[in-house]
Amino acid sequence: MHVTLRQLEVFSAVARNESFTKAAEVLHLSQPGVSMQIKQLESSIGLQLFEHVGKKIYLTDAGREMFVYSQGISHMLDEAEVVIEELKGVRSGKLAISVATTASHFATRLLAAFAKQHKGITISLDITNREALRYQLEQNERDLVIMGQPPKGLDVVADEIMENPLVMVAPAGHPLVNEKNIPLSHFANEEFVVREKGSGTRFATERFFEQHDVGFHTGIEMTSNEAIKQAVEAGLGLGIVSIHTLELELETGRLQLLDAEDFPIRRHWYIMQRTGKRLSPAAQAFKTFVLEKAKEFIRLPGTEADQH
Ligand code: PGA
Repeated sequence: MHVTLRQLEVFSAVARNESFTKAAEVLHLSQPGVSMQIKQLESSIGLQLFEHVGKKIYLTDAGREMFVYSQGISHMLDEAEVVIEELKGVRSGKLAISVATTASHFATRLLAAFAKQHKGITISLDITNREALRYQLEQNERDLVIMGQPPKGLDVVADEIMENPLVMVAPAGHPLVNEKNIPLSHFANEEFVVREKGSGTRFATERFFEQHDVGFHTGIEMTSNEAIKQAVEAGLGLGIVSIHTLELELETGRLQLLDAEDFPIRRHWYIMQRTGKRLSPAAQAFKTFVLEKAKEFIRLPGTEADQH
């Protein structure tokens, strides 16, 4: 049986996603590319791996067997990589970190400080939203992930780094800027510029309004905190963002915090990996660095939000 690792990788992605199209997206391949790899794998083992029923695909018996083995092979390769990294030591390892879009505001600063102390380590940083991070954790794709609350239903080892208060912002000179403890019900008539679905900020904000039984009207949706801040400044609506994203805007007074009832929304940052994952020395060194030094490198803009 002549099988390549690439074929197994493509096969696993199709099996996990139960779709050729989704697997193609995840692997950044074309759909015909995925189909071809599966065809080649099927012809080399001599059995069909999937069957099509209506629009859905299912693993055949052979497919199920192959899936178990391909998971095992990929797990062993991951372990081999860690063992090799261990032999290289902290001095010249590789570090693959993923962080939530919002966390990138401080994570790059932390990585830079870490990189200065560990010049031999090659670092790769992926910045994406909560939903994508959940998937990466599930697939055990990265060494460590920095995000908000650990995702439900997934076994992870999560260590809290620090607070992540979400605050409400308005453009300078907004009529509500000088008001105190503005009742939440007032905001049922306002429109908010929001992050995309799948963002932790969006999820926490929607849950907060739901728990307080107050309507929350979303206007324009954006995938970047920078764009949201600019849109709020331009008067397109109010915004709810992490205080970590606001350093410059609050200093220069381009945006102002609104003193909304029960704000800030309380959230925290965590550094995490899948339970049972063996961390390479480089990953372990980075994790220790983050937990010990984060507060030294990250200054929350001086607001009431961080004084609780
Ligand atoms: P984000 O933030 O996905 O909105 O960037 C992460 C989080 O708060 O969990």
